[in-house]
Amino acid sequence: MRQLIYSSQPFGYDAATLANILVAARRNNRRDGITGALICRHDIYLQLLEGPADVVAAAFGRIVADDRHLEVNALMSAEVDARLFPRWDMLDDPARSWLWSPAEVTTGAVVAAGADAVLAVFARVAAELRVTSTACPDAAFA
Ligand SMILES: Cc1cc2nc3c(=O)[nH]c(=O)nc-3n(C[C@H](O)[C@H](O)[C@H](O)COP(=O)(O)O)c2cc1C
Repeated sequence: MRQLIYSSQPFGYDAATLANILVAARRNNRRDGITGALICRHDIYLQLLEGPADVVAAAFGRIVADDRHLEVNALMSAEVDARLFPRWDMLDDPARSWLWSPAEVTTGAVVAAGADAVLAVFARVAAELRVTSTACPDAAFA
């Protein structure tokens, strides 16, 4: 299975735009067997896609061509055994306080951080989800 992370700069960032992106993302991802998470803030999208390599590549191709963001930078692409977000067609997550600041984003800190650092961001988000979900036992959460 392929796991891919990229960052980009939102173009025309508002609630309606984000909602439209997520509706299409979730519809397509459910169809394609892709899961993942989209961290969003006015100045950055940071997205993790995971699924069969061919469909992840096709989705990324569409995403790169999308004019609702700019400067799409692939930051990590790897073969993995397990999904980080198995239950999420596309989790949308507000950028946390511990993420890179807008000033750091502007000076290229995310791209400079490297694959391990951006993967660690999503691992932390996924770990927080697991903590939350212990309060709500769910057979599908294996
Ligand atoms: C930040 C961002 C994230 C996106 N994430 C996904 C995604 O996870 N999966 C997807 O299929 N499309 C995603 N899209 C939308 C694609 O760019 C494209 O609009 C869509 O796949 C086209 O689908 P359609 O041909 O079914 O309308 C995203 C777009 C943006 C701007």
